[in-house]
Amino acid sequence: MITFKNVTKEYSPNIHALSGVSFRIEAGEFVSITGQSGSGKSTVAKLIFAEEKPTTGNILIGDWDVSRVRRSDIPLLRRQIGVVFQDFKLLPQKTVFENVAFALEVAGESGKRIRDIVPHVLKIVGLTEKAARYPKQISGGEQQRVSIARALVHRPKIIIADEPTGNLDAITAREIIELFTRINDFGTTVILVTHDRDIVNGLHRRVITLRNGKVVSDAQKGKYILS
Ligand SMILES: Nc1ncnc2c1ncn2[C@@H]1O[C@H](COP(=O)(O)OP(=O)(O)OP(=O)(O)O)[C@@H](O)[C@H]1O
Ligand SMILES: [Mg+2]
Repeated sequence: MITFKNVTKEYSPNIHALSGVSFRIEAGEFVSITGQSGSGKSTVAKLIFAEEKPTTGNILIGDWDVSRVRRSDIPLLRRQIGVVFQDFKLLPQKTVFENVAFALEVAGESGKRIRDIVPHVLKIVGLTEKAARYPKQISGGEQQRVSIARALVHRPKIIIADEPTGNLDAITAREIIELFTRINDFGTTVILVTHDRDIVNGLHRRVITLRNGKVVSDAQKGKYILS
């Protein structure tokens, strides 16, 4: 369902973030993308949700050729892909409920749908009790759960998370990863971008490793291979 065909990305003529990257991710997989700082992990993530365009090569997501997608179609594409970031990106002046609701409001959903969907996704992430709190009144792990709830509102086929545990302690990080595995169990494809060796090794799932913008390993039930 996600295919990278010989993808290169040059941010400028002398910055080759990706060179000749090819892989295919099937619907329902849980894949970690790993590698050292600067290896191109976030670039892969940004290409998948069309924040960046490849310099050459093709990126197919379902029926979409993301490398050629029209700017006006990007919102539609993004609804099929939930995105989670390291720094949560919550709106501080909105409550937990309102932060999640906002993603539906901007997509033009009705008040009724919002009142149905928001409690549902807050329940999935275990935050029903904290719906009325503001981001600064909850823990970092809980803030990340809010951002995961927000990523789920359009029932995306794919969730892509770029270093989602980067700001969390080891135990909280493990809980967040467990939440992603549960979301994966519902059938959602999960792509986890992380440089965290313990997380990758604890998952026993597929691992794609990048080095200097190239895929150097793609292993089912893989391990973090870089020293
Ligand atoms: N917007 C940009 N403009 C220019 N160069 C960029 C840009 N974004 C990334 N790069 C460069 O592209 C390369 C890959 O960056 P990328 O962010 O994909 O790495 P990463 O593996 O996510 O690293 P990290 O683990 O530090 O987040 C790096 O050399 C980086 O400096
Ligand atoms: Mg990165």
